[in-house]
Amino acid sequence: MKPVKVGICGLGTVGSGSFNILRNNAEEITRRVGRSIVIEQVGARRDNDMCDLTGVNVTRDIFDVVANPEIDIVMELIGGTTIAKDLVLQAIENGKHVVTANKALIAEHGNEIFAKAQEKGVMVAFEAAVAGGIPIIKTIREGLSANRIDWLAGIINGTGNFIMTEMSEKNRPFSDVLAEAQALGYAEADPTFDVEGIDAAHKLTILASIAFGIPLQFEKTYTEGISKITAEDVGFAKDLGYSIKHLGIARRTDQGIELRVHPTLISKKQLLANVNGVMNAVMVKGDAVGPTLTYGAGAGGLPTGSSVIADVIDVARTLTADPDNRVPHLAFQANSLSDLPV
Ligand code: HSE
Repeated sequence: MKPVKVGICGLGTVGSGSFNILRNNAEEITRRVGRSIVIEQVGARRDNDMCDLTGVNVTRDIFDVVANPEIDIVMELIGGTTIAKDLVLQAIENGKHVVTANKALIAEHGNEIFAKAQEKGVMVAFEAAVAGGIPIIKTIREGLSANRIDWLAGIINGTGNFIMTEMSEKNRPFSDVLAEAQALGYAEADPTFDVEGIDAAHKLTILASIAFGIPLQFEKTYTEGISKITAEDVGFAKDLGYSIKHLGIARRTDQGIELRVHPTLISKKQLLANVNGVMNAVMVKGDAVGPTLTYGAGAGGLPTGSSVIADVIDVARTLTADPDNRVPHLAFQANSLSDLPV
């Protein structure tokens, strides 16, 4: 069967992580999909030394990727909402499926993008847009799909949680920890998005849309960040047996769905209070299942790349499935089960 061909736009932290996962886990991925996924072209505006680009068709103009007739899936990993929006709309117009990690783009322009994708009959997948490596979109959309969701609450910004943890555990100053988060590739290009709660509000907007079946409504989210939290605040909270965590909360009320992100005092006895560093965790309360909790790295190239490539695999599997004979996804294709001892 002929390979599924992808084009990667952007080779920053997430683009590089995604590129390396596709390359390093190619054999495993082929067994899961039933055919190979090949990188047909990479669009990167700058040189990159994190990926071995030997033999890869690299263009400086990312719009070459969406115009490339060979490409089935465009991976939008450049970030931002201007060029990225044009790129994604053009890709859809050209009949390409899109995988993106761009929470700002989905939260602010997702309604328009999804409408266009529906019109053109293509898929747009965005697991990596929320909570890095945690498959929270798939968890809510698929794993919890039998439930009426009552509420969800989570730590959904890795940079902010990293800052709060280091301030609390090591008494480090806010600005030092933020600089380290930037150096580690956790922070947004504009880190005020992380520390003023905008990034978390983008992610909460997306989660609420999936959980409650509502349109994306970023502008209706109450948004407060962590920039005003002082070392004294953190110290007092600790002395009283609490952690200060920046939470995104969405819940049903009699007036509709309430959306808010802000710092919250949580008793150290609660699981969420013990989610530290760059880790994220999301609690979702369904009427049948009760409370659930997912946990994992909320930022970083490989964790976020894990979610990007999971979406690429999902789209590739859907393209591979016989439309007259679709079955729920198997973890591996039946003819590809390993004969290695377990
Ligand atoms: N800046 C984001 C964060 C990256 O720290 O969570 C992952 O979305």
